[in-house]
Amino acid sequence: MKINNFLTIILIFLFYLSSPAKDANTITIIPKPNEMKIGKGNFVLNPSTKIIYSQGLDKHADFLRDYIKFSHNFNLLITDKITETNKNFIYLNVKDLNSDSEEYELDIQPSKIMISSESPKGVFYGIQTLRQLIHSGKKIQCLKIVDKPRFVYRGMHLDVSRHFMPKEFVKKYIDFLAMYKMNTFHWHLVDDQGWRLEIKKYPKLTEVGAWRVDRGDKTWREREPQKPGEVPTYGGFYTQEEVKDIVKYAADRYITIIPEIEMPGHCLAALTAYPEYSCTGGPFTVPPGTYWPPLEAFCAGNDKTFEFLEDILTETMELFPSKYIHIGGDEVVKTRWKECPKCQERMKKENLKDENELQSYFVKRIEKFLVSKGRKLIGWDEILEGGLAPEATVMSWRGTIGGIEAAKAGHDVIMTPTSYCYFDYYQGNLELEPIAIGGYLPLTKVYQFEPIPEELSNEEAKHILGAQGNVWAEFIPTTTHAEYMVFPRIAAMAEVVWTNKNLKDLKDFMSRLAHHTKLLDDLKINYAKSMYDVKITSILDTIKKQVKVEMSTEALNPDIRYTLDGTEPTKKSPKYKEPFILKKSAKIHAINFYDKNKKSKESTTEIVLHKGIASIVTNINYDKKRYIAKGLYNIVDGVRGSLNQNDGKWQGVQGNDFFATIDLGEVKNIKKVSIGFLQNYHFSIFLPRDLEVLTSLDGKEFKSVGKVQNTIPIDEKKIFVKDLSCDINDKARFIQIKASNIGVNPDTHPDKGFKSWLMFDEIIIE
Ligand code: ACM
Ligand code: ZN
Repeated sequence: MKINNFLTIILIFLFYLSSPAKDANTITIIPKPNEMKIGKGNFVLNPSTKIIYSQGLDKHADFLRDYIKFSHNFNLLITDKITETNKNFIYLNVKDLNSDSEEYELDIQPSKIMISSESPKGVFYGIQTLRQLIHSGKKIQCLKIVDKPRFVYRGMHLDVSRHFMPKEFVKKYIDFLAMYKMNTFHWHLVDDQGWRLEIKKYPKLTEVGAWRVDRGDKTWREREPQKPGEVPTYGGFYTQEEVKDIVKYAADRYITIIPEIEMPGHCLAALTAYPEYSCTGGPFTVPPGTYWPPLEAFCAGNDKTFEFLEDILTETMELFPSKYIHIGGDEVVKTRWKECPKCQERMKKENLKDENELQSYFVKRIEKFLVSKGRKLIGWDEILEGGLAPEATVMSWRGTIGGIEAAKAGHDVIMTPTSYCYFDYYQGNLELEPIAIGGYLPLTKVYQFEPIPEELSNEEAKHILGAQGNVWAEFIPTTTHAEYMVFPRIAAMAEVVWTNKNLKDLKDFMSRLAHHTKLLDDLKINYAKSMYDVKITSILDTIKKQVKVEMSTEALNPDIRYTLDGTEPTKKSPKYKEPFILKKSAKIHAINFYDKNKKSKESTTEIVLHKGIASIVTNINYDKKRYIAKGLYNIVDGVRGSLNQNDGKWQGVQGNDFFATIDLGEVKNIKKVSIGFLQNYHFSIFLPRDLEVLTSLDGKEFKSVGKVQNTIPIDEKKIFVKDLSCDINDKARFIQIKASNIGVNPDTHPDKGFKSWLMFDEIIIE
């Protein structure tokens, strides 16, 4: 051997020795464990590896064997006999079969893997961690994990009323939760559009309340109510036997099911079956789609209503052993109560000063009943209105305010604010996503959720038990679609509730998720790929009056190819490397590739370079709380708003007119002024009645140079952007815009009388 070669070998050997053991980042467990030390070497799984379990963990051993069978097709031997000579085994060890601890230890050594915990539950969580490690390969990095969750309540919700989901899927959903060490399934079993739980004493609840006419050919908000003579055919329900089976299935996976029986509102399916418990007596039909505002409520003045509900709750409690029973309580419209003699009589008798206090009376009465049966009431944050029931736990969904108020008053709280926890919201660019209820909640935003509000002291913060992702199903007609909305956001939520705040790191999470998708693929989960889609944004240089184009994806390491001429990018199109200056107006198209294949859908954005780019905007009327977008320059940055009012490009004003003055910095020849307006009928966003443009040379004296009327009917329900323009041909430095809001929604609108939004983006000056 030549001396050179010898040296090279020595050098390589030294390099190998000095390189750190496998970096923690390549261990791709979700949720991230709270303590982990990487060891030396690997455990190598093979068909002779044994699973040894301590007494009482036979089911745990079965789970692990099944996971390994799925990942590697090994049929491992299971035994409860440990011998000193054993090597090549996975040992499941529990100290106390009655313990409820959630902590576990996972110790991976070259010769064995040990999962140990105080409790069977802890061992189950250790198995979930190991399962993810094993799925990445047979060679498993030696390490030691000591892990326990940050929050005691780690939940996911599923609405099976708006669209019925078969029991097989409910079990699959429970498996999803288990994979991420979640411990609570909030089952939204009843609502206006369907009653899904068999109640023996009131069979019509499911004979009638579980069925509605099939309007599956229309989207939720377009569906007409049942017509006379039509037969309801869409729906389904769970028999009590099925529920027992599901509850057991969940318990085997250390998941508690909290059933939700909605009251006093969101109960039209129940009232269709038993109209005698309404204020008016009915008759009603089960709505096949939107029912807004949800007017009908249980009559709070009728004692028989309470008997009915207590009977239902009694059967519910027989099926569900959970400490908590969720009674809904959200969005009760009090119109019926205001008009009902019985409800008004109740208010007088109980000395209740308004209908909010009547609602509070209702909830307190139900709480008393639940408490007498040894249970605890949980309800949406509206139950705070009119006074909170003494022992109630609050689920804070309208932001965190309700949760803060409840925690300060010493009540327990589950955080589910819409802005971070509503998985029925869009998770990507609206134009690329299947129709959803609205909103915008991308994966990375879920990850950034902090369940403990800053407003709380350490002592008050103890009342925040945890958080939950909510899956409302108005726009989720199928189980595969439910998977799409849930994944991968559930993974982010799992880490929010499990992993300590100081260990959370978005980039690290995205990097682990990139590997974790292999498991999702192998499990054939229809997870959303929105994280791969390209977001096209702009950076405005207000000095040079230039627009830079920036492209990004939520997923790490994209290979973005783009075009500026409106054609579809291919792998051969220019690769996006860094923000670039746009020299002329463009229809930008971008796709993220992986090897030769498209990894994303095609994103498009139009940027119009015009004379007003980066001008100073003054004297503007817009809503500073909601659609502030990126500040005032947003309407003169060249980037057109999309069809999504929440895309960060739109600004809006509610109820009032829009006006603004643009200072071009110098006198310019102006040919035309156009403004884009959005119409989204269902979100109360309407085009203006008219647009007026005024010009000035000095910013003091303005003259009107054009006025146009909107000619599109106010009740046009399609979502669209419309440019209103004025031809001008004038010299001006200052341009003033006035657009008149229609003011309030028209009488035919579900939210009639509500102050309408006027949404505007890009004032294009040519
Ligand atoms: C809710 O989203 N209405 C609780
Ligand atoms: Zn009434």
